Amino acid sequence: MAAIPAAAAMAASNMARAAVRAAAATAAACGTRLADSVPREIVDDIFAHALKKQTGVSLKYMLDFGANPIERQLVLSAQFLQKELPVRLAHRVAELENLPYGLSSKPQVLKVRDWYVESFQELRSFPGVRNVEEEGAFTDLLRHIYRRHANVVPLMAMGVSALKKELSDKSFVTEMPEIHQFLDGFYLSRIGIRMLIGQHIALHEPPKAAHIGLICTKCSPWQVAQDAINDARSICLREYGTAPDVSIYGDPSFAFAYVPSHLHHMVFELVKNSLRAVQDRFDDGEEEPPPIRLVVAEGGEDVTIKVSDEGGGIPRSGLPRIWSYLYSTAKSPVQLDDSVVESGGPNVLAGYGYGLPISRLYARYFGGDLQIISMEGYGTDAYLHLNRLGNVQEPLP
Ligand SMILES: Nc1ncnc2c1ncn2[C@@H]1O[C@H](COP(=O)(O)OP(=O)(O)O)[C@@H](O)[C@H]1O
Ligand SMILES: [Mg+2]
Repeated sequence: MAAIPAAAAMAASNMARAAVRAAAATAAACGTRLADSVPREIVDDIFAHALKKQTGVSLKYMLDFGANPIERQLVLSAQFLQKELPVRLAHRVAELENLPYGLSSKPQVLKVRDWYVESFQELRSFPGVRNVEEEGAFTDLLRHIYRRHANVVPLMAMGVSALKKELSDKSFVTEMPEIHQFLDGFYLSRIGIRMLIGQHIALHEPPKAAHIGLICTKCSPWQVAQDAINDARSICLREYGTAPDVSIYGDPSFAFAYVPSHLHHMVFELVKNSLRAVQDRFDDGEEEPPPIRLVVAEGGEDVTIKVSDEGGGIPRSGLPRIWSYLYSTAKSPVQLDDSVVESGGPNVLAGYGYGLPISRLYARYFGGDLQIISMEGYGTDAYLHLNRLGNVQEPLP
């Protein structure tokens, strides 16, 4: 584990303390306090855990650790999770209690908070993991928790969009940087928690060739991109009756260690955006739409995937907004309702506004990044950087 400079650690712990104090104050003010529905000692336990430091791991650590998942390793992994997950969950509960503009008391946000509290309690009340049997029972609990939290993103999105509607009626602040910052941290933390749990569960499954849990040691960006392109084009075909071509440039046999599901998610979102932009720009059918170009570049430090389109680009003044969870230029923005939440999110080309910000978090989670460069009047280039060495520590909000 990398050492954190003492001053930074102190600042972080002061911030955590302030957040916990503020959480108590805000919640008390709006009558939806945790203490209204949860016994005192559990509330205290949660806030005590919210003050503890989270422990990050790296892709490389997960690879080394899972390379030989003998029973002893699995017990150690379960013990680590039993200590670490309550800390991460408690941090989020404290934040969920303390959101500005009354977001904390939105029913959807309260439901999400209650899921975090339930999972916290189940992990805390699970007796120690000392042997293989106990480890098996603990893994069952993890599976249950993993499923419980499946639809957190659309549910939170529903709460946030309800707030947005309310505030725009009052015609003030619609940018809400605090909420954006909170959501970035919240979703990033969720990616980390699901990665840790998912990895532990996956190590119990029958071994798959070139896989260590969720990580593929020979992940071919070319192949993953091809699958993501097929999926994105089929949605485009369904919505528009036609879809621009996408050509891939790069070495199909090149492979590196990465989580294919994360990579698929990111490329899928980028390609959907490009398809939509090109399709909308060339929809009069007079000109053949120019193909979207996806380039896979293999560097020593990074693997970079560039997605280039001639879809007309994004005005420079609008660029900061594309990273917002509250912004989409989709013609018919998706109405988030219970059915969308139950299905885990809308299966459409655009309209949720979450594609870019969440993809950037997936990239950053393993030390990469996502950049969008636009030439208004011509097209857009998305650069997806993936860190190759994988020894970057998880970022922990
Ligand atoms: N390749 C692109 N060309 C033009 N505009 C884009 C492109 N990618 C993203 N955008 C703009 O950024 C916005 C946000 O994108 P995203 O986060 O994927 O959400 P959504 O696609 O649901 O609107 C889009 O609504 C669109 O206005
Ligand atoms: Mg999109």
